[in-house]
Order: sequence, then structure tokens, then C-alpha cells
Amino acid sequence: MPQFPSDLPFYSLMNGPTPLQEMPRLRAALSEQGANCPRLFVKRDDMTGLAGGGNKTRKLEYLIGDALAQGADTIVTAGAIQSNHVRQTAAAAANAGLKVHAILFDTVDGYQDPAYRTSGNLLLDKILGAKIRIEPKDADAIAVFKEVLDAIKADGGTPYVVPVGGSNAVGSTAYAAVFLEIEEQAATQGLALDRIVHATGSLGTQSGLLAGRALAGSRTRVDGISVARPTRDALIDEVLEIANATAKRIGAGRVNDADVLVDFRYLGEGYGLPTKDMVSAVELVARTEGILLDPVYTGKAMAGMIALIKSGEISPDETIVFLHTGGMPGLFAYPSQFGNG
Ligand SMILES: Cc1ncc(COP(=O)(O)O)c(C=O)c1O
Repeated sequence: MPQFPSDLPFYSLMNGPTPLQEMPRLRAALSEQGANCPRLFVKRDDMTGLAGGGNKTRKLEYLIGDALAQGADTIVTAGAIQSNHVRQTAAAAANAGLKVHAILFDTVDGYQDPAYRTSGNLLLDKILGAKIRIEPKDADAIAVFKEVLDAIKADGGTPYVVPVGGSNAVGSTAYAAVFLEIEEQAATQGLALDRIVHATGSLGTQSGLLAGRALAGSRTRVDGISVARPTRDALIDEVLEIANATAKRIGAGRVNDADVLVDFRYLGEGYGLPTKDMVSAVELVARTEGILLDPVYTGKAMAGMIALIKSGEISPDETIVFLHTGGMPGLFAYPSQFGNG
């Protein structure tokens, strides 16, 4: 196993590796539907354990570590109204004794379920003590951030900005480590992995996984299913920038354009807007494996993986890991979508 740097600022928020489990009943159900289905595994990063869990817990171990090393006392971050990232940041900050200001942008204005604006992650943000400011979709983000930072400083505070999704080289370092964790667990279970499939949103998870892959010199594919950006042009420069900054931070070689695999076919009408296949995927995985996905990220990524299996683009000879990045509280913001069939 390659050496991962151990001297980076770090604040522990979870215990040990999350499980890598097989999903035999999902495989059987897909086979019954006529698919030629490979062995399917799930990496349970929904079980990171911090206030509902999810991928941001991992990134926040490095980001909160960095904030503490810099002497900050207040975290400032942003996301959508139902951001899982903001919920986990609020919990991480509480755990570390820091204050948190969250700027929530009303980006999903095409979805009108009233629960979207009262329940799910937003409710948990409030319980976790985040100071919340809601802004319209087209607000000037730079100006709003400046206002919030100036007010904290004027009050004698020392702010630390965690970017949307925790997606920079500091946060993505966590997913480089997760790549190595998955490969190590797979080796222990005697598995030769062909690909890791996951939801890609603010791009930090995919960038980190690719940096870890470069460090490991692995040939396992990393397949991002886009849940936010509609085209490759809209994300490729950013992925390469975060991935290579992360690779540099951990002493890995370069990540190239050809390593960045993103599928845009399962996004539907846009970020946070439900699709029929997302609903079916969430219900199928819940009813076969007892695992809860989410409506914005993992549900669409799972819908994508199922479609790739059914079309034969994923071959039955492969061994696949679906990276479950969490998000279950988001289900409570979409009650009208589920349980109707
Ligand atoms: C549940 C869940 N899955 C996946 C993602 C996507 O990860 P990333 O933003 O690192 O691309 C997010 C956050 O944006 C998330 O909350």
C-alpha cells in the first residue's frame, strides 16, 4: 500500500473504516428484471456517523483540522437549502467547539414541496445551531460572503471559509484516503475491483478519489454520475484543478483528462429536481437491501448505475463498488415523491 501523509492537520470525527458490503438482493432483483448483473458492493460512507453521516464528514476531518490549526473560531460555508454538506459542517463545528454561519442559496427553485423549506437538512441545521442566511439563486455570492465575513471580524471573530461541498484540495484529501481504504478492503475480501460508481456534485469526492487512484497507481475506474453540472465543459477544468492540487498535497502523480469519467445522462432537469428513475432506484435499494439512498445525489447515481448495468455498458464480469455518500435526511424534504408505487 502506498504511503499516505500523516502530518496534515486533522480533527477526528469518525471511527475507523466504513463497511464495504455486498448487495446480493439488489443483484438478484436486477437479474429478475432481465439484467445481466455483476457482483455489486456498497461502500457505506452514509455510516460515517456524524449527525446523519455522509461524505462531508470525511472532508471535514481535514477542513476542521485546518481551521483549528489556523486559530479560527467560526466556520463560514454555503450550499443549497437542503445541503447535506451544511448539515455535517454544522455538526462538525459543534463537535469542535466552533461557531458556524451557513449561507443557503435557493438553487432548487423549480421544486415546490413545502417540506423542502421546512424539513430534512434545513431542520437539522437549525437544531445543530447553525446561523442561517437564505439567499435567492441569483444572489451575488462573493458579496454575500464578504458581508458575512466582515460582520464576524467586526465582532472580534476569526472566520475560516469551507467552500461549497468542502471541495478543495484540503477536503478532497479525505477521498484520496478513501480510495486507498476501498482498495485495501477489497483486497482483504479477495476482490479485484473494476470500478467505483458515485454521485458527483461539487466535484471534491471524485477529485479526491482520482488523486488516491494516482497515488495507488490503480487501474480501477472512477465513474462519476453528474447530479449538478450538465456537461463535461462545465466541470473538467475544476476537477483537474482540485484533483491535481490534492495529488500534489499527498505526493501522488498527475491526474489526466482521460482519467475523469463523468456521465451526464441521469441528471434529469437539473440539480435537486427529482427523476422517475431516481425514485425507482431509491425504493428498489431500500426494499432489497434495507439501505436508504437520497433524492438529490445517491438516488440519481444509483439510477445511473442500474441503467449502465441494464444496457450492458457495465459488463457482468466486472466487480463494482457503489460509493454511498449519504444524504438520507434529504428524503424528508421530498415526501410527495416516495411511497406511491
Ligand atoms: C449525499 C451526497 N452525495 C454526494 C455528494 C457529492 O459529493 P461532491 O460534492 O464531493 O461531488 C454530496 C455533496 O455535494 C452529497 O451530499
